[in-house]
Parts: sequence; C-alpha cells; structure tokens
Amino acid sequence: MTAVEIVDLHKSFGDLEVLRGISASVATGEVVCVIGPSGSGKSTLLRCVNLLEQPNSGKIVVNGVEITDRDCDIDGARRRLGMVFQQFNLFQHLTVLDNLTIAQRKVLRRDKAEAERVAMDNLTKVGVADKVRSYPAQLSGGQQQRVAIARALSMGPEVMLFDEPTSALDPELVGEVLGVMRQLADEGMTMLVVTHEMQFAREVADKVLFMDGGVVVEQGPPDQVIGAPQHERTKTFLARVLDPIHRTE
Ligand SMILES: Nc1ncnc2c1ncn2[C@@H]1O[C@H](COP(=O)(O)OP(=O)(O)O)[C@@H](O)[C@H]1O
Ligand SMILES: [Mg+2]
Repeated sequence: MTAVEIVDLHKSFGDLEVLRGISASVATGEVVCVIGPSGSGKSTLLRCVNLLEQPNSGKIVVNGVEITDRDCDIDGARRRLGMVFQQFNLFQHLTVLDNLTIAQRKVLRRDKAEAERVAMDNLTKVGVADKVRSYPAQLSGGQQQRVAIARALSMGPEVMLFDEPTSALDPELVGEVLGVMRQLADEGMTMLVVTHEMQFAREVADKVLFMDGGVVVEQGPPDQVIGAPQHERTKTFLARVLDPIHRTE
C-alpha cells in the first residue's frame, strides 16, 4: 500500500521556484527521511503535503485520496496528517493537557473525558504524563517536543510529518525525541521526516531522499544514499554534515 504519493510537485513563491518537480512515495508503515541543505525546499515539501501551502501543480495522494483535488475537503485531508515542527508550536497559554485536548474537542468533536483519555494515553507513550498540568514554558525543549508529538498523535493521524524535530534542541535532549520517533517507527507508523540526524536516518529510515535546489537529486535505502552516494552534490552535503568540526546545521 502507498500511504503518500507525490507526483511532479511544483511550488513557487513569486519568481522563486522552490519545488521543481518532486516525485516521491511513502509506503504504509515506512519511514522516509528527507535530507538536504538549508533552502533546498524540504519544509515547503512537507507544508505542501499537509496543505499548509498550495502547490502550483502536481498531485498528492494520501491513502488513495487525492488531497490536491479542487473538490477535496481540505480540513478532512489535513486531519489525516500529523505535523511536528522544529519550534514545537505549542500553545503557551494552555497546559499540556489542554494543548492535547483542544483540537480533539473542536475538530474531532470528542467529549472531554474521551479527549483526556486519549491525551493521557499519548503523554504516557512519549514519557511525559507527569507534566500534564504544566505549561510549555515549564518544560525542557525535549519535553515540549514530546508533548507536540503526543498532540499530533492524539488526532489519530494516518501519517506523521516531522520537520527537523530536533534542530531546536540542546544536544543532550536530542536523544529522547529521536527515541520516541524510533518507537513510533517500530510500532508501524508511516513517517516522513526532514532531519539532519544522519545516524537516525541510517538506522530508522527505509528510504532516504536527498533534496537540493528544489529537486530530489538521489533517493534510495540509507546504506546507498548516505553510505554510498552517487551524486557529487550528495557527497558534498554529507561531507559537510558528517564532519563535526565544520558542522553548521
Ligand atoms: N512563504 C514563503 N515565501 C517566500 N519564500 C519562501 C517561503 N517559504 C519558503 N520560501 C523560500 O523557499 C526556499 C526553500 O525554503 P524551505 O522550504 O524552508 O527550505 P528548507 O526547509 O530546505 O531549508 C527558500 O529560499 C525560502 O526562502
Ligand atoms: Mg526547513
């Protein structure tokens, strides 16, 4: 089964063509990692898949439904995709519990007890159930990102999208978030992950896409794309991110 199919996707902002014909697919239960230099269009790709951006042309199909179809119910389509952002995007004025229940109640129309039960299940799963009454500012970055993951999971998504989920974290907090993502992958969640964590991509991804300049330069199993890249641009990028002294991203 194909969970996400992206066909010849184009996206421009004014004169700037950011996605120049992206085609890729994510099979059900698969983890696909997207790597590539800053500005290559990785976030725009994820935002198009989630319909936070309207692509100029091309097609996105999620579990058989073409979400880029004009007649598609955008809210319905968006609900099927969970998104986790670099900056967590939690509501600062709400407790952890309310962060997890608000969309369940408003969008899914769950009653309070049901929404809180789902919230607690997911907070337990990501290991922050003891923070349920706290506000985001009282949590570490790693805890906040785990709450953001639990919030996305509480909506029952078919696919989880992650946009550099560990890039804003202090190095010592990266592992706890990657651990949760690894656990989700092991449970069979379908995931599309933009990341600079090459070790994670190598160990967890079924497939790696290297993007540069709005195109997929190279894709395949991690041992191939990261372990034995064929293209010069992939080699240059990997040399830069894998070299700890010159590491800037
Ligand atoms: N809303 C926007 N309006 C104009 N330009 C944008 C917008 N979003 C992204 N861009 C531009 O698109 C290019 C790709 O950005 P992005 O998808 O964020 O790349 P990445 O996530 O790979 O760093 C960049 O040049 C960026 O400045
Ligand atoms: Mg980005």
